[in-house]
Amino acid sequence: MAFLRPIAAALAAISLLGRVQAWTPELPPCLEPFQPFVYSGCYADSGSPTTLSFRSSLDQQNMTVETCVSECKGNGYRYAGLEYYGICFCGQTVTGTELDEGQCSYPCTGNSSQTCGGSNIISIYQDPTFLPLDEVDIEDYAPLGCWTDDSTYGRALAYPQDQLDGATLTSAGCLQACRDGGFPFAGTEYGGECWCGVVIGNDTFSAISSDCDIPCNGNSSQTCGGRSRLNLYVANELQSLEPCGYVPPPVSSSTASSTSATTSSTSTEETSTTSETTTTSETSTTSETTTTCKVTHTLPPKCEWKCGNWCSSPLPDWSDVPGCKNGYSSCQLQVAACFKNAGFPASLGCFEFASWCSSVSSYCGGKGACSKNDYTVKTPPKGGSPPTTTVITTVCPYTSTTTSKPATTTTKAPIPTPTNICNQPSNILFGYGPGKPVGGIELPIVTCNDLPADWSYTPFKLYSDSDSKLCKGYPRNSCTNACADACKEQYEDCIDTYAEGCKTKRDASPAGSAVDTSYFEYARTVNKRTFGWTDSYPVAALKCKTQYADCLFENRLNTGAGKCPKYGVL
Ligand SMILES: *[C@@H]1O[C@H](CO)[C@@H](O)[C@H](O)[C@H]1NC(C)=O
Ligand SMILES: *[C@@H]1O[C@H](CO)[C@@H](O)[C@H](O)[C@H]1NC(C)=O
Ligand SMILES: *[C@@H]1O[C@H](CO)[C@@H](O)[C@H](O)[C@H]1NC(C)=O
Ligand SMILES: *[C@@H]1O[C@H](CO)[C@@H](O)[C@H](O)[C@H]1NC(C)=O
Repeated sequence: MAFLRPIAAALAAISLLGRVQAWTPELPPCLEPFQPFVYSGCYADSGSPTTLSFRSSLDQQNMTVETCVSECKGNGYRYAGLEYYGICFCGQTVTGTELDEGQCSYPCTGNSSQTCGGSNIISIYQDPTFLPLDEVDIEDYAPLGCWTDDSTYGRALAYPQDQLDGATLTSAGCLQACRDGGFPFAGTEYGGECWCGVVIGNDTFSAISSDCDIPCNGNSSQTCGGRSRLNLYVANELQSLEPCGYVPPPVSSSTASSTSATTSSTSTEETSTTSETTTTSETSTTSETTTTCKVTHTLPPKCEWKCGNWCSSPLPDWSDVPGCKNGYSSCQLQVAACFKNAGFPASLGCFEFASWCSSVSSYCGGKGACSKNDYTVKTPPKGGSPPTTTVITTVCPYTSTTTSKPATTTTKAPIPTPTNICNQPSNILFGYGPGKPVGGIELPIVTCNDLPADWSYTPFKLYSDSDSKLCKGYPRNSCTNACADACKEQYEDCIDTYAEGCKTKRDASPAGSAVDTSYFEYARTVNKRTFGWTDSYPVAALKCKTQYADCLFENRLNTGAGKCPKYGVL
């Protein structure tokens, strides 16, 4: 109880210190299990600016290390710090100097066997699930497009970079400031403002790109947001790789087996579904004491199934039923990308790709062999390239017989099941509905985000690119926007492939121009026979348009409630 009086006095003093982050939204503490923070030292806190930027509003009369750490974890910060018996701070970078350990000596209010800094001195803990800051540069910021910044709950990004000169602001200048502050989010606004954030405000939405129309004051060929609009960027490398709610994916049992002569291991890239096989064989060279190894890399094809301008990412290898289902999901999530990118008339081939994907599903349930190799031998993918093999001669890994290398835990993003959160509309007059969309072109799939670093701020994703990193993510409150974007894409695919495929000579060349139109009559006959398409071009286009309007209406109240509750739970 001896320390209660000084706290009251310090409260008044501390509230004058530091920059008050009036706009910082405070998220709930993380109550899920997470990797414990690591103690990183005792630091001075001069208070201007504070050593850690964010002062939590937690009750400082009952503070423990665990309480403060879970607050900072829940808010996405890299550091947690405890000062003056129980004030909890969080931050992305540490700005104070390190002191002797003995200087941190005040007991914590909620557990007197723990240490809570001192007077103007802070005990700091670090989340070990972040990459080191010096491995990240401004090239790692990916543009997310134009976003709103007009919420009544606060700014989209909490940290203004007022030290920058607005009159000379460029995109790179802003990204550099956010990078130096360790902030994963960066945004430029109104030509000369730069904002950084650890999270994006809960009431922030993606806006149409034409809203961001103000050139940067320092470089008129770049755009720096608009009125209440941000050009938003994210560097996933600056976010925790295991945010609150992260569920570690099941570790695949293929640990590297190491023998004296041959090492064979299968490694999987962090998020892609490709797998690479490496075989090492050791041979002694006579003249030198070092041994050289021949390493054979077998890379799966980058392009497995090709339709026009589009190529599928290879399905992950499988050798059992769960793996096969993953392969099916990975395939199905790429169908929309085919229609979007192949280009007409090659996009007609996407129907064949879609049925190749569906047949993976029946293959998984079948009897007998169950492996990707067996499937692709029986039903070979079309148009792609074969796997490539390269042999490299290197120095052998040192003492490969005695010390085994630390098991490289390759985390593999779980592949979401291809069940659409958005609904295909029905229309009796035009005969479309679930399972029978206009022209057979399904609504692009919106489901859970498969990338752990993106999941925490955009749990939903529209799978319209074969590379999931390029697919657009949506915050929890933007499911309606995600569905609206899916509806729009279905409409565009419908016009570009179905309506286009129903064109006749007359539709193609209404003014009687010199275009060679013989193709259209032929194509129409083929499409009628292959797909049963009998609509005229105007009717086909009308169906596409009506389906689009119905789709927006059908999904206008679709909030995705209860979907994707945690990372990895699909
Ligand atoms: C202090 O916090 C602990 C949990 O950290 C809680 O169980 C306890 O009720 C709190 N005590 C007071 C007086 O608020
Ligand atoms: C208080 O902190 C000590 C040291 O961290 C810990 O061992 C102990 O379990 C804590 N007590 C409570 C009640 O949490
Ligand atoms: C955003 O956060 C504020 C304050 O916590 C809350 O009142 C509001 O309902 C939230 N808005 C949304 C759209 O979730
Ligand atoms: C201005 O922006 C353009 C487009 O991003 C870029 O190519 C150019 O290098 C920039 N100029 C300066 C001086 O930064």
